[in-house]
Amino acid sequence: METLEKIVSLCKRRGFIYPGSEIYGGLAGTWDYGPVGVLLKNNIKNQWWKEMVQLRNDIVGLDADILMNPRAWEASGHVEAFTDPLVECKICHQRFRADKAEEIEAHEKSHGQDKVEWTEPKKFNLLVKAYLGVVEGEQLEVYLRGEITNGVQVNFKNVVDSTRIKMPFGIAQMGKAFRNEITPGNFTFRSKEFEQMEVQYFIKPDETEGKKWFEYWKQNRMDWYVKMGMRKEKLRFRDHEDQERAHYARMATDIQYEAPWGWDEFMGIHHRGDWDQRRHQEFSGQNLKYQDPETHEEYTPWDIETSAGVDRSMLFFLIDAYTEEEKRTVLKLHPLLAPYKVAVFPLLANKPELVAQAKAIYDDLKNNFMTAWDARGNIGKRYYAQDEIGTPWCVTVDFQTLEDKTITVRDRDTAKQERLPIDKLKDYFDNKLSL
Ligand code: GAP
Repeated sequence: METLEKIVSLCKRRGFIYPGSEIYGGLAGTWDYGPVGVLLKNNIKNQWWKEMVQLRNDIVGLDADILMNPRAWEASGHVEAFTDPLVECKICHQRFRADKAEEIEAHEKSHGQDKVEWTEPKKFNLLVKAYLGVVEGEQLEVYLRGEITNGVQVNFKNVVDSTRIKMPFGIAQMGKAFRNEITPGNFTFRSKEFEQMEVQYFIKPDETEGKKWFEYWKQNRMDWYVKMGMRKEKLRFRDHEDQERAHYARMATDIQYEAPWGWDEFMGIHHRGDWDQRRHQEFSGQNLKYQDPETHEEYTPWDIETSAGVDRSMLFFLIDAYTEEEKRTVLKLHPLLAPYKVAVFPLLANKPELVAQAKAIYDDLKNNFMTAWDARGNIGKRYYAQDEIGTPWCVTVDFQTLEDKTITVRDRDTAKQERLPIDKLKDYFDNKLSL
């Protein structure tokens, strides 16, 4: 089995990710996160938020609505230009993105000897429409946001007016986005509904400043993924050519991961210039300019954006962590990202004194750490199950525990065990997680 297939299967088996509405035959490009998957996804988002908002004094958070006045999407250029080039195979009428050479090639191969002819590429808008209102025929056509950026852009002035934040500063946001993708695929990589985590970083309009902050955010984001455990050699930057840049971008660079299907993007850094702020001023007729509190200079700021997919980040964290050893499969996730930090077991499930002591430890630890409980099967099977979901430490209560109040802690990556007093456990995990 190929690596991606193995990961898809592990994700389903262990409760990371299920196909969307599976009992009805599914819905292409939609995925549901299970009990373990939602923990991993939340940990990625929480670590990102901590790094971007909690630990910085130049970035504040925002949570804008998905639904917006449709004029906002005209202003941002999405109604006109948020498109992919679509071509149709004249033999089987399947539709593809003309700019995805590998997918076109694979499809041509699937027709064997038959020569495939394609329709001329036409622009296909990715915005997903929805309808608001209770009277048929009088409903308002709105869009499910195609990127989360617009809610930040329209609130730029609200944030400036309601905080003391000064330029340069950023606004961070996470949330769902929707795209009518022509060819969803590669598991969650290209979905119709997905989450993004973005910072719009506003700066003074100046070429040198723009380049400086663009380079700064490129390196900052690359470093974060390495800090969160991704292998450096699997990551690289890829600058966009002029003709492939999104309609709003003056400069754009992707951070790519070497996926099982080749190098592919999981986040982008975009120099949006004054595109959004200028257009929202033109379309709304409002003055959204920033006024420097000291010099009183007024200007429309430039925006350097970092935009990451939560689902793609999670997929690449999973792929990067997936390790097959002779006798086990291990997800070597960074402990801060691991769904559970600790699992607690009684050595034997049929010895009430062991179970009671283990339960007491479990009840205590779960106040501080996401803690799993397992008393099924033998200890080897429990280790195996925890390794597969990436739990960094397993605590076992055995007969010695009843005598001297010590337990064993088994490390996921080395499989080595050490004995510790029960009352040192919390400090032990705190120390490990603060590295
Ligand atoms: N605000 C800028 C923006 O949305 P983008 O390059 O179109 O830029 C940013 O998207 C990130 O969102 C991508 O790098 C990717 O991680 C994620 N993303 C985009 N489309 C996606 C899709 N169909 N499925 C999953 N993730 C997607």
